[in-house]
Amino acid sequence: MKKEAAEKAAWWKESVFYEVYMPSFKDRGGQPGFKGLRSALDYLGELGVKGIWLTPFLQSPKVDNGYDVSDYRMIDPVYGTLDDFKVFLREAHERGIRVIMDMVENHSSTEHAWFQEARKSKDNQYRDYYIWTDSPNNWESFFGGTAWELDSQTGQFYYHQFDVQMADLNWANPKLVEEVLAVLRFWLDIGLDGFRMDVINFLSTDGIGPDNPLRDGKQEHLHDIDRPGVKEAIRKIKSAVSEYPDRFIVGEVGSDKIEVLSSYQSEELLDLVFNFNFGSIPEFSAKRIFDELLSMEELMPGYPSLFFGSHDMPRLMSRLAENQPARAEALAVLMLSARGVPFIYNGEEIGMLDAVARTFKDIKDIQARTQYALALKNGCSDADALVVANRHNRDKSRGSMPWDHGENPILKVYKKAIALRNAGPVFHYGTYTDLSFRDGCIYFTRKYKEVLVKGYFNFGETAIEVVLAPGEKVLLGSEILQPDGYLVVQVN
Ligand code: GLC
Repeated sequence: MKKEAAEKAAWWKESVFYEVYMPSFKDRGGQPGFKGLRSALDYLGELGVKGIWLTPFLQSPKVDNGYDVSDYRMIDPVYGTLDDFKVFLREAHERGIRVIMDMVENHSSTEHAWFQEARKSKDNQYRDYYIWTDSPNNWESFFGGTAWELDSQTGQFYYHQFDVQMADLNWANPKLVEEVLAVLRFWLDIGLDGFRMDVINFLSTDGIGPDNPLRDGKQEHLHDIDRPGVKEAIRKIKSAVSEYPDRFIVGEVGSDKIEVLSSYQSEELLDLVFNFNFGSIPEFSAKRIFDELLSMEELMPGYPSLFFGSHDMPRLMSRLAENQPARAEALAVLMLSARGVPFIYNGEEIGMLDAVARTFKDIKDIQARTQYALALKNGCSDADALVVANRHNRDKSRGSMPWDHGENPILKVYKKAIALRNAGPVFHYGTYTDLSFRDGCIYFTRKYKEVLVKGYFNFGETAIEVVLAPGEKVLLGSEILQPDGYLVVQVN
């Protein structure tokens, strides 16, 4: 267990964040975008969140729901205008809620003016904003298939780690880097509180490398991510953001190795990285959740992130809670009382379930559509291709928030757990003096200055009774821990 070290205070360590998936977030009256968000601020204020992460809302053809930006300074008209955004930001700030935006700087839409220019000729001044070759290597797209697309205008291939309509930006070009930094400053000047940096360890910082090796017939992404130069690029990003006081960067780092995640987190690099090992385990296992918590403690010197849901993975309620509200509540309390920065994905707080596509035409997700086409090409029947597509289908968690949930019991638990967290520095800065797992039960003790709290989360089969010592006070939950029961206790 890590030694107790004084944790440097920062607003983001004291905040519970709420991810708003822009394409499907509408208010009670069905309004999308910033008008809808403004009217949802009362709800978010009552929920108690102190930070909002907005998924991309910049102008985009929305091949990948906004992760394909065609203008980095324009709000997509579907969501409103720059003035609407500013009003939303001001109103959020008035409520003590900070706002960070998703910044996609690994790639742009092929509709972006830079790409439109770049593709015109080999000597166009924007040509080197992207990555071109006459002879592609074997790199594959993360959505499936080759990562190279032949552009007929100049007869060269351009690189795309995701969809063909999302061309990778060339971070080896200093002009491109300056352009991106100017974009960051544009949003920071407006008063934005920070960024969630999309696939930040995927940046193409050193041109085209060697072929990737194959392992068990599948490509291992060895040379196309975590490239030499990527940390230098992040350092530049961080230094631009640090020109402004009190801003925050959380990075999406695609890796299942905790040492890799951890290597991106420092004062000069990212403040926080998303730890997918913890957040996106494919099925419920209390032991696995515990192991990931422990490994974050032991192997990540920085502050950890905590989440069980996002727009890229199936819903917590379907995937982990298996439709049992009690388990969804216990997981929420665990996430909201553990050490780290919690991120709630919109709809998790009311226990939303996965939406499953029955036919291909119901699938919007570009990753699932690509996988479907590849499966057909490889000889699958329609029905089998649909199974493959649904395995990858990220639409599952992208359904619209319903507002008719009334007195939702899960929501009540979220509110209580967030209020508890907001009230106590022990939940923000307390270190673990114990983090253990016995008989399906996760236990922790956290300490900050003289304050001590204990957490009990029973994911085992049988009920457990916790006998409180004199002076111990129940903060949340009950002393009889039924399976999926939880209890948070103040010791002194
Ligand atoms: C990130 C986003 C995901 C998107 C991808 C490409 O992983 O979370 O939704 O498809 O980047 O931008």
